[in-house]
Amino acid sequence: MTAGMDWHLARALLEWQVELGATEAIGDAPIDRFAASPPEPAAAPRPAAGAPPGVASSVAVPATDPVAAAAAMAAAAADLPALAAALAAYPHCELRKGARNTVFADGNPAARVMLIGEGPGREEDQRGLPFVGAAGQLLDRMFTAIGLSRAGPDAEHALYITNAVPWRPPGNREPTAEELAMLRPFLVRHVELADPDLIVLLGNTACQAVLGRRGIMRLRGQWTEALGRPCLPTLHPANLLRSPENKREVWADLLELKARLRNLS
Ligand code: URA
Repeated sequence: MTAGMDWHLARALLEWQVELGATEAIGDAPIDRFAASPPEPAAAPRPAAGAPPGVASSVAVPATDPVAAAAAMAAAAADLPALAAALAAYPHCELRKGARNTVFADGNPAARVMLIGEGPGREEDQRGLPFVGAAGQLLDRMFTAIGLSRAGPDAEHALYITNAVPWRPPGNREPTAEELAMLRPFLVRHVELADPDLIVLLGNTACQAVLGRRGIMRLRGQWTEALGRPCLPTLHPANLLRSPENKREVWADLLELKARLRNLS
């Protein structure tokens, strides 16, 4: 223990970190951040594009636009394995620094139905697969009830599952609008390559990422067109774990999905 720090102070500091969301030790060995080298002195501001030489601007000119970089990397991916590799190599999202795994997808990419959730939680981050915690188990039971599962043997009975962001946000906070925007090109390409007949949007974050809108209680159960195909917003299974009384609405949405699949086939 650091000299001058008693047990009670150390415990209070630890609890404070847990409250902020630092619930796990990521590395095997502690890092003494006080021993780290001091930050580099700030670089002189760069001239804005088009500004006369020697004239610095207050407008920051980013070396790379993260959204444009994501769009270029996603467009270059010719298939799903290439897209997964591109996402894992994408350097501009801070979320990846705190994550153990890039959680890309699970299920059958040939499925007629693609589910989009929010982002990995602790168990998903550890296992590298979407929806494997408590919410995922409920999700599996919900969809099995209408004959769809990630292990479904063919496109008719299968599910394909991904998230709006592939890295666990610290403390399970919601992804920010900026994070959703920079990762959206990967999500759009993911849908393009998997080419499902229908998409189910699980909760507000998925609706924000795909439709640019929130308000899941109003949006749920209403078909809307996005990414070139019908999308059905419904409640996130984590919502149902907190508020089981909402299961009735989700059941109605699942029956609606089943009917639409029948009509489309
Ligand atoms: N919640 C999500 O939105 N996605 C997961 O993968 C797990 C929980």
